[in-house]
Parts: sequence; C-alpha cells; structure tokens
Amino acid sequence: MIQIEENRSLKSFNTFGIDCKARYFVSVKSVEELKEALRNSPSEEIFILGGGSNLLLTSDMDHLVIHLDLKGINVISENENEVVLRVQAGENWHEFVQYCLRNDYGGVENLSLIPGNVGTAPIQNIGAYGVEIKDVFEKCSALFIDSLETKEFSIDDCDFGYRNSIFKNELKDKVIITSVDLKLSKREHHIHTSYGAIQSLLKEREITNPTIQDVSEVVIDIRSSKLPDPKDLGNSGSFFKNPVINAETFQQFRLRYPEAPFYEVSATEFKIPAGWLIEQCGFKGKRFGDAGVHEKQALVLVNFGNAKGADIWQLAQRIQADVKEKFGIFIEPEVNVI
Ligand code: EPU
Repeated sequence: MIQIEENRSLKSFNTFGIDCKARYFVSVKSVEELKEALRNSPSEEIFILGGGSNLLLTSDMDHLVIHLDLKGINVISENENEVVLRVQAGENWHEFVQYCLRNDYGGVENLSLIPGNVGTAPIQNIGAYGVEIKDVFEKCSALFIDSLETKEFSIDDCDFGYRNSIFKNELKDKVIITSVDLKLSKREHHIHTSYGAIQSLLKEREITNPTIQDVSEVVIDIRSSKLPDPKDLGNSGSFFKNPVINAETFQQFRLRYPEAPFYEVSATEFKIPAGWLIEQCGFKGKRFGDAGVHEKQALVLVNFGNAKGADIWQLAQRIQADVKEKFGIFIEPEVNVI
C-alpha cells in the first residue's frame, strides 16, 4: 500500500537544496506501487522525481510528486566479453558506476560522479569526458502515464543527441523510465582518454596503461576540482547547455574572439563552451544574495544556503541576456526549470 503525504518539503530531494513544497508526495518502490500512485492520484498533475539533480524548483507544486525509489541491479545476459545489466530507475548513478568498477565492468568510468539516478540518465543522455550513456545503452523500459502500459525503447527509439532524447521532446511528461539495460565490457575495455584534462592527469601520475579504475579516479579528481559537491553547496551541475552554432556564425565569432575555446561538432556545427561565454561576461565567482556563479566553473550556478528557486532563475536569465547581448548567442538551460 502506498502512502500519499501532504505538503512535504522537497528540500532534501533536489541538489539545489531549494525549499519548495509538494501538495502531495509519495515514494514508490516498485512498478506496481508506481501504477497504484498514478491510478489514485489526488491531483490532475503529476511530477516524477528522480535524483533531483537536474531540477530548479521556482514555486510550490500542486502536483502529486512521485519519488521513484525503484532499486536493483541484475545481470540479464553475459558472455566472456560483455555483460548486460538491468538497473532499476531509482539506483543512484555514481553508486552504479562504483558497482561496475568493483566488478570490473567497463564503459561508464568516464561518467563517474555524475549526480542523479539511472532512470533519468537517458532523458538528457548524460555525458562527460568523451562518453555519453548512449554508448553503453541497450534499451529501457518505460511506463506510459495515461494508459499504464509498458513499452521497451531501443537505442534508435530514444533518438539520443547532445543532452537530448525523445524523452525530452515528443514523450516529455508522457512516460516514466522504470529500468535501463546497459551493455558493459568484461575484458579488453575500451579506454577513452582523448579528453585533454584526463590525458594530462594520467601523465602526471605516470600511468601509461590506465585501467577503468584509473580513469574513474582521474575523472573524479577533475570533477571534484571544478564542480561543487551538492552536499556542501547546492547546485545542479552545468546549468546551461553549451550552445551549438552554425559555420557562418562561428566564422564571425572566431574573427572577433580568436582565443575562445570551441569543439567542432561537424563541418557545419561548432560548440562553444557556455562557461567561457559566461566568464567573459564577468559572472564567474559572483554572488547575488544567496544565488551565485561557481568560482571554478562559470557554467554552474550555486545556492549559498537560502536562495529561492526564483533567485537562481533570475540570475540565470540575467546571464542569458548578457551573453546574448555581448556575443549574439543564446544559451539554453540544461536543467529542468519548474
Ligand atoms: N571554461 C572557461 N570558464 C569557465 C568554465 C569553462 O573558460 O568558467 C572553458 C574551459 O577552459 C574549457 C572549456 O570552457 O576550455 C570547457 O570547459 P570544461 O572542460 O569544464 O567543460 P564544459 O564544456 O564546461 C561539459 C559538460 C559537463 C562535463 C564536461 C566534461 C555540458 C553542458 N557540460 O562542460 O557536464 O562534465 O564537459 O566533459 O555539456 C553537466 O552536464 O552537468 C556537466 C557537468
């Protein structure tokens, strides 16, 4: 039997640490409980809460907030070289990565320390240091909110892109991912060290043949040196996506700012680090009341304690406007602003 609570604070359920209330709240531990909550919702609107790491709450919610607390990691199939794991949506992503490292399963080590849960990882196709979840993705199971039917989504069905998938577009608010199947290597791991910061740290440590455990350690050290731990300082990782601009805009941009870092996405598309754009506008390390821009990575907005979601959102909009005015480039939030 599920128990629906009323007027519950969501402060401990979002990594920004914003103190907004849910009119109704329930934590579900199985797909059956999830269905029961959906069938008996006291509110028309529902909101699915995973790890709360990609979320900015700007007001109290009249919704039924359903906290997905489905746990479990099972081996679905394996051979000498590979293993397919079924991971329930409520498993914490980094704990899952650590499980893989303990078992010497390769493929997710570059994604160490990414906050959030496994079930929400495919929604924005989480990525870091040259790897995205789509690289190890097999399929996922999702429940349609209206019909309560379950459907499996293959990698093609998911339509993955840079911090993007079908779950952020056509299927936004229509389905709930309940488990994810990931295919990992058991031997001859494919090590991804092309990212400059990883290479230099491995060199510094004189590691020439890195194991997946070495890569994970390096990634953890790089991330911890730039990104604040939500336990110490409320934040939601990168607040904005890195903007992708066309070749023509890029040429003009490059003439004016030859020193700007960039990544070539394709012959016609170029990605500019939003962190650089924001820093150039003078926001890095700035604090406005309890809302601020992280001193070590301008892409990360932080809550120094008692910021309201609206304060953070106001700062985000001010940053967007300044970047637009200075560079003519629009930066889109990566986080879900509610
Ligand atoms: N930069 C600045 N100033 C800053 C921040 C960055 O000039 O304040 C410059 C850096 O010097 C570097 C470039 O921007 O030349 C890129 O910076 P970084 O390597 O830190 O990566 P990013 O593009 O800012 C992205 C992801 C991160 C991911 C890293 C590593 C997005 C929106 N963010 O950040 O993901 O960890 O690459 O792969 O794509 C997240 O999504 O929450 C996240 C942290």
